Amino acid sequence: MFIKHETIEKNIGLMIILTVIVVSFAGLVEILPQAFQKATTQPVKGLKPYTALQLAGRDIYIREGCYNCHSQMIRPFRSETERYGHYSVAGESVWDHPFQWGSKRTGPDLARVGGRYSDDWHRAHLNQPRDVVPESNMPAFPWLGRTALDTTDLPKKMAAMKALGVPYTEDQISKSQADAAGKTEMDALIAYLQVLGTAIKNNR
Ligand code: HEC
Repeated sequence: MFIKHETIEKNIGLMIILTVIVVSFAGLVEILPQAFQKATTQPVKGLKPYTALQLAGRDIYIREGCYNCHSQMIRPFRSETERYGHYSVAGESVWDHPFQWGSKRTGPDLARVGGRYSDDWHRAHLNQPRDVVPESNMPAFPWLGRTALDTTDLPKKMAAMKALGVPYTEDQISKSQADAAGKTEMDALIAYLQVLGTAIKNNR
């Protein structure tokens, strides 16, 4: 059936229905293919699942709300890539559940902070940011270095990640508590920070 444009323009109900159809179709065309594209569903070369310690560190990162001030997504613009390095690609975070991209940047993006500083720098910075960056307004997290890492749930956490498609072996899961034994929460957090963005860095 052929509807005259005038008819649509004068009938707001019909206009809304047709608009919704057009927008949903356009949305499906844009969004659906991404779920099946290799570039967005396959890990980049050299990507390794987080070790038990790094995975525990990631949970500390989430618990302490680091994401409220730090994004982990470098946009493909010159101003960003010159400051942070290669822009983020989806294949780097296929095993991140949930991913930590974000967009809130009170502090710098952390997508490629791995290897940028020494462990000692991170330790000093987390204990008191103003000791190393005098103008910093980042809060201090001194208790992390005094708190022993609780590894009780690590095998369950890794099994959950495995159920979501992260290729952990049974061996890694059964050894997870031993791998993270005797560490502080700060050790775990730093291990996590030091691996961020390194899969692509090491490729180049
Ligand atoms: C209230 C906001 C805020 C929170 C919360 C916060 N940060 Fe920051 N962070 C900043 C700011 C601002 C800077 C830049 C100044 C500096 O280096 O201290 C920064 C810098 C950093 C840097 C150095 C980045 C670089 O490239 O120089 C790291 C690493 C970092 N933060 C990690 C963390 C971690 C881990 C947490 C959670 C435990 C956290 N931040 C929580 C605001 C925050």
